[in-house]
Amino acid sequence: MCGIFGIVAAKERELGPVLVEAGKRLSYRGYDSVGCATLSAGGAIDLRKDVGKVEEVASRHRLAQMRGLRGMTQLRWATFGAPSRANAQPHLDSSGEMVGAHNGNVVNNVELRAQFLAEGMTVRSTNDGESCVHAVERHIRQGATVLESIGRAARDLQGDYAYLLGRADEKVLYAFKKGSGLVAGVGDGFTCVASDLPCLLPLTRRVLRIRDGEAVVLHADRLELFDAATGTRVEREPEEVTETMEAAQKGGYPHFMLKEIHEQPQVARELIHLLGASKHVAPFVERLRRARHLYLVACGTSYHAALLGAVYFARLAGKPAVPVLAPQFLAQYVPALGAEDAGLFVSQSGETKDVLNALEAARAQGAAVLGLVNVLGSTLMTASDRYLPLACGYEISVPATKTFVNQCVAFLHLALRLGGRPVRTLDGLPALLQETIESAEPQVAALAPQLVDKEDLYCLGYGLTYPIALEGALKLKEVTYAHCEGMLSTEFKHGPLSAVRQGYPVLFAGQSEDVPLLVSGINECACRGARTVVVSQDDPRLRANAGDLVVLPPADPLLSAILAVVPLQLLAYRLSVARGFDPDFPRNLSKTLTVD
Ligand code: G6P
Repeated sequence: MCGIFGIVAAKERELGPVLVEAGKRLSYRGYDSVGCATLSAGGAIDLRKDVGKVEEVASRHRLAQMRGLRGMTQLRWATFGAPSRANAQPHLDSSGEMVGAHNGNVVNNVELRAQFLAEGMTVRSTNDGESCVHAVERHIRQGATVLESIGRAARDLQGDYAYLLGRADEKVLYAFKKGSGLVAGVGDGFTCVASDLPCLLPLTRRVLRIRDGEAVVLHADRLELFDAATGTRVEREPEEVTETMEAAQKGGYPHFMLKEIHEQPQVARELIHLLGASKHVAPFVERLRRARHLYLVACGTSYHAALLGAVYFARLAGKPAVPVLAPQFLAQYVPALGAEDAGLFVSQSGETKDVLNALEAARAQGAAVLGLVNVLGSTLMTASDRYLPLACGYEISVPATKTFVNQCVAFLHLALRLGGRPVRTLDGLPALLQETIESAEPQVAALAPQLVDKEDLYCLGYGLTYPIALEGALKLKEVTYAHCEGMLSTEFKHGPLSAVRQGYPVLFAGQSEDVPLLVSGINECACRGARTVVVSQDDPRLRANAGDLVVLPPADPLLSAILAVVPLQLLAYRLSVARGFDPDFPRNLSKTLTVD
């Protein structure tokens, strides 16, 4: 996930060290290349950028020696295209008199680049940050002011992003926000702006949180805020913040896990936009379509998303796909694999050894190898014939949450495309995820004290919610250390039912389509004394039968399966904290397992 930082000083000075330190503070967001630009009082722009870590690029290009009145730094996290020096940010406009950098995704980048070239502009990269600069340049060329141009560019630039720009002949910087984070700050003799609050905190505690559609002009001694669409001034004063650095990194949440659960609507929205506009999806879908046998290969949480993917593929595209745990893929399918087959390898980290072993074995058999991965630049991304990004930004908490949701989003998008169906089915998901988080939180808070001392639980699901039950159980195991088994609800009677006694907790992940089956499953357990908890849409039959019902908002079953994971994630989180554990770093577990 990219990050930007900018500063405007009252007097020309060595800005390099400030830019490098700001870059280091943004580095937790994940990145592959780094760049800085300074603008001197005399109107010169000094631009230095490259692929690599902040420290490497700083020493290779002597970033610390950069001087100016204004400066900006950008860390790029590649979404499409290899990380390269040309694609690193910031970027210049055609004449080299304006420089800018962005954070986020401009989803119509390919179309815009073609327009800019046709209009005679100099386009030096394929990066969408450069499109932000040219989108503003285009209107300046037609005689508009910079602020007017920013307002008009917002109509051209589709997606979620924030950007920062400076012109050689001025003394200010401009920043604009639409969808991605942006916070400005006022210090003693300078103003600054960044993608997030932690980046600003060591410099100032007087901050102004920029809202979507707003442009901020940074002068050395003050900030001016505008509604970019109308050009009217917005009167809002900077506030004094008291958060510690650590609290600010957690965005005000006590743990990264809770923060990342709350980021799910936003990351889902960004991925839906990205996949909807990407030219990489069509050839990816074609490769899936051509496969004689298609395998969805993963471990842990990613495997659960693959299970849901297989249900989507069959249901929406009539395309059979075999979800399989990566090490078992070696034994069960690789010996029979051929050049007409394809493996879609799914991994948040892109570094899970079990998954990489499976990919190499598939490649050796001549099969096509495709990747679905969050960490760009990872081994999986490089090793795949083709890949699609999950675009979640860094997931810090060990238990995967937002990456699971976006894996499900990606699978649903691919299945809809494969089936020749409209992808707008997904459009309502971000708002539904938000509604689910808001409505589930109090329900889960009320439920958690009653489950806090349970050492043994089951979590059951069926059809679309079977993968969700497995994922809910994994979350509960990972962070509460209790034994929680996920299972197909109809299998429960074939053995595990013997564990049920008075008060034994059985959780059900359900949805409207399966109510009759849910009711019989609930009763099978309840009549033997089980304490049943159901996560599903509201239904009088469930109210009458379930011990507790955590209500999901009404939704298409394809989406409600994804929604059902949210209360289970929140329950796992609450129980972990109530039991005195740190959900972000569960004992014995690692976020990235690079061993066999
Ligand atoms: C580890 C993590 C799990 C994760 C699994 C697969 O076991 O603790 O949370 O689901 O690896 O990780 P991947 O990065 O390949 O999705």
